[in-house]
Amino acid sequence: MKLVHYLLLFLYIGLSFCKNPTLVQEDLLDEKCLKEKYTHQSCEKVFCQPWEKCIEGSCICKLPYQCPKAVMLVCSTTGKTYNNYCQLKSHECIYPKTKFLTNGTCTGQGQFDLSLKYGNTESEGFVEVKLGNATSFICKKNWSIIEANVACLYRGFKGGAVDHKKTFNFPDDVDVKITDCLEANCRGLETTLAECVLIKRKANSKDLAGVVCHTQEAADLFSDSFQCVNGKYIPQKKTCDGINNCGDQSDELCCKGCRSGSFFCKSGVCIPKKYQCNGELDCISGDDEMNCEGVEHSEVQDLIASTSVQGTRNSEHEVQEQDEILNVNMDEDRKFLKSLLPKISCGVRNNTHIRRKRIVGGKIATKGQFPWQVAIKEGKKIHCGGIYIGGCWVLTAAHCVRKNLAHRYQIWTGLLDWIRVNNGTKIQKVNRVIIHEKYTGVTYQNDIALIEMQKHPSKTTCELLNTAPACVPWSKYLFRPGDKCFVSGLGRDEENKNIFKLKWGEVQLIGNCSKYYSNRFFEKEMECAGTDDGSIDACKGDSGGPLVCMNSNNVSYVWGIVSWGENCGKPEFPGVYTKVSNYFDWISHHVGRSFISQYNV
Ligand code: ARG
Repeated sequence: MKLVHYLLLFLYIGLSFCKNPTLVQEDLLDEKCLKEKYTHQSCEKVFCQPWEKCIEGSCICKLPYQCPKAVMLVCSTTGKTYNNYCQLKSHECIYPKTKFLTNGTCTGQGQFDLSLKYGNTESEGFVEVKLGNATSFICKKNWSIIEANVACLYRGFKGGAVDHKKTFNFPDDVDVKITDCLEANCRGLETTLAECVLIKRKANSKDLAGVVCHTQEAADLFSDSFQCVNGKYIPQKKTCDGINNCGDQSDELCCKGCRSGSFFCKSGVCIPKKYQCNGELDCISGDDEMNCEGVEHSEVQDLIASTSVQGTRNSEHEVQEQDEILNVNMDEDRKFLKSLLPKISCGVRNNTHIRRKRIVGGKIATKGQFPWQVAIKEGKKIHCGGIYIGGCWVLTAAHCVRKNLAHRYQIWTGLLDWIRVNNGTKIQKVNRVIIHEKYTGVTYQNDIALIEMQKHPSKTTCELLNTAPACVPWSKYLFRPGDKCFVSGLGRDEENKNIFKLKWGEVQLIGNCSKYYSNRFFEKEMECAGTDDGSIDACKGDSGGPLVCMNSNNVSYVWGIVSWGENCGKPEFPGVYTKVSNYFDWISHHVGRSFISQYNV
């Protein structure tokens, strides 16, 4: 060996030490988050399916009538035809025996079944499917843990698959002639392979997919394994890689970063890279569909494009080299139906030019910049702010209002200047005040209240000019420390002078706020925000007003309600806000889910 070789060897050994995977792994998982046991059914982390709705943090079954009404017939294994895939899946969600069978009307013939063949136990084998009257084996081609999980879940193995690479031997006494197999392409959350794209391929017996499903006995524990919420163990290195190895997605939902080949959602979720810019929102934080500039791509679309679609045309002839797609892509139906679900409009300004630069250290707001900002007037004074969230509802701080004084309050909307009241300002009377039952004046815990404005006698809604609702955050993972947000209000400035104008300032969310306010800061219910030098802060009179944060798509969320703080604008004492995401259920209980649920109403 020459000297150069030694050097190279050294370099190699050195590099492999640097790449010590265990170091990386430990860093990727967020232990505190893992304790919450999130799965694909946790709407604090992921969007629910179109046939599900998000209630108290979990995706639960919708009733079929809550699905879009579009007619795109599908047939179920119970022989019933449904208007569309959402309606069938919602039915399945409630009665799991009903599963998807085919696209189109039921013809009365044909079934789907899946069995595991030639394994040593019931829980393993080659995957054989019965589609209509034909039976075929599934191909090894494209057979990944995703498809294997779907197959095992169908067979009733709740943990999905543990091994998708194992092969089996045909018994000597059976004479099987394999000429083709079905290649399966699933998204991962299907409940039967019939929902996946199945393509007939030429094959021989070496090309077949095998699987070992998860059973308690098969749960081989290796030292550095990760335990999924469903109980299955997977190698650590398969967490945070964008691939749903667990089958319940629990290996991808508490990540501080993602392995290569996957995309990191700011909400701490890893998704396959191919979902980035595919035209469908996958990250609740919205970051997978930003900066896409025409890079639209869809993996299954590519796959279909590369496969000659011959099914119907050539079926009478003996087609030799052609592959045949046996069913339509239900994922496209899912996406389309999702796009038909009702949407609410919130968090968007009608006028978009905001980039001009008091609140302490802030700037004077212009018309339409904070269309959700309202002022609460009691007697002759404006003493607090509030946030319009839709319908006739205004969110504010509990310490700003009293239940029995509703008749004394006025809600001023569109107000920018309190001395020379601008046009576009509207005054609403108050119908009732709802204060959080657990509000504690001494500690400012649960400092949140709702004000219902009165409708004009002849109107059915609260019509407000120059006003737009801010979105209500349903998850604590939408924003995180370091994110830039905006606080606004008509309160006092740094010299404690009342300037009677709406001002705003940009602040940053601050983590670990107990270090500033030991024993007084309650992490679950409160949020801190400010700037390093403390130059921008809310102050007296801003209470009840908004701290809004914008997601990747410039949609504004009420992340906080101005609540308290030691002095105003002191770096060692940041502003403290009521953490609105913690109160989503409380708010929706009072105002009704349909006003504030952006997704899966
Ligand atoms: N409690 C005050 C009010 O009634 C709001 C204080 C906010 N203070 C702060 N430093 N951020 O207006």
